[in-house]
Amino acid sequence: MGTPGYRDHPAPAWDPAAPADLAEAEEFLRQYHAENAAAEGLRERLAAVRREIDATGTYVHTADELTYGAKLAWRNASRCIGRLYWRSLLVLDRRSVHTPHGIFESLVRHLEIAGGTDSRAGRHARGGVIRPVISVFAPAAPGRPYARVWNEQLVRYAGYRDVDGAIVGDPAQEQFTTAMELLGWKGPGTAFDVLPLAVETPRDGVTLFELPESAILEVPLAHPEHDCFAELGLRWYAVPAIANQRLSIGGVDYPLAPFNGWYMGTEIGARNLADGDRYNLLPTVARLLGLDTSSETTLWRDRALVELNRAVLHSFERSGVRITDHHTESARFLEHVRREEAAGRQVPADWSWIVPPISGGATPVFHRYYHEADQRPNFYLDDEARQLARTGEPAFP
Ligand code: ARG
Repeated sequence: MGTPGYRDHPAPAWDPAAPADLAEAEEFLRQYHAENAAAEGLRERLAAVRREIDATGTYVHTADELTYGAKLAWRNASRCIGRLYWRSLLVLDRRSVHTPHGIFESLVRHLEIAGGTDSRAGRHARGGVIRPVISVFAPAAPGRPYARVWNEQLVRYAGYRDVDGAIVGDPAQEQFTTAMELLGWKGPGTAFDVLPLAVETPRDGVTLFELPESAILEVPLAHPEHDCFAELGLRWYAVPAIANQRLSIGGVDYPLAPFNGWYMGTEIGARNLADGDRYNLLPTVARLLGLDTSSETTLWRDRALVELNRAVLHSFERSGVRITDHHTESARFLEHVRREEAAGRQVPADWSWIVPPISGGATPVFHRYYHEADQRPNFYLDDEARQLARTGEPAFP
């Protein structure tokens, strides 16, 4: 019998009041010890964790357990095509940071380190050497309120509805933008205004913070041949940092654990800028390139998509900002699958997310099936977090 697919077995709803699951703790600790020859004393550690859960309802990860657990969560992220690099994740242990200001400062450092824009990076201070980073803040103690960030990503562009109903900016952020305005924020009103961070702590409620320039690395978009493309004034940010997924390691949950990798071009060129309910730029690009849009059979959408994606890759490369293309990344993902299988492990993967949104069949990841499983440690998007990122309004009980 095969392992059931996770579509049949969705991740169980998270109960923040429940004590840490002992079986999950044991499973994680066994895996951590099995994969790390240097880790010592599994028996003693298991006994100590059992006692700690009995006494307090949870247990505290060692720094090494936390680091390895975060890497395993990435390795188990079924939707991520970039997992060949899972060992390279930089894990920033922020478990002792609790105040809104402290959290904000840590998030700024996160973005600076991830984008290579921190002054300590010396000659790289202009940024572009993107590093995969995760900042892990305090775990949720059973039944106790916890800190979180409302935003879906640390960097996202606002979306404003103007008087005649058209959206300026990212339509996906329209409700969230309105909520931020109601909390007192006011953006300049361009199509690429970076939203403030909404940091919520049990003590202080929600506080808004404006990210400094050093935390926001961006790339202006130009096309390698069509000079007029630059006049569209398009841009995108360099560091995609998911901010509202819960990191779950061995029965301990970290509701605030933002993480980033670097972009694959299609995420921007074939989704964020192209989707009809996002920036919806295919008609604009087709017009700019003089394509014949009188019939679908001219494949003007496909032609516009390819040129938009070329512009994204070209612009990031020209700016020295790390990005990858879907052909290269597909081959690397299959290399990851081979390496994992050589280590005796299956790679959980979701075909519908792994296959890129353009030229799927031209990449090797299209032509096979994958092992569908929900393996922990992992990242989970809770309904409440999803709703908060969409609307900027907490669901009051
Ligand atoms: N697809 C999301 C976006 O376009 C980002 C998801 C994470 N991507 C990554 N390359 N790590 O903003």
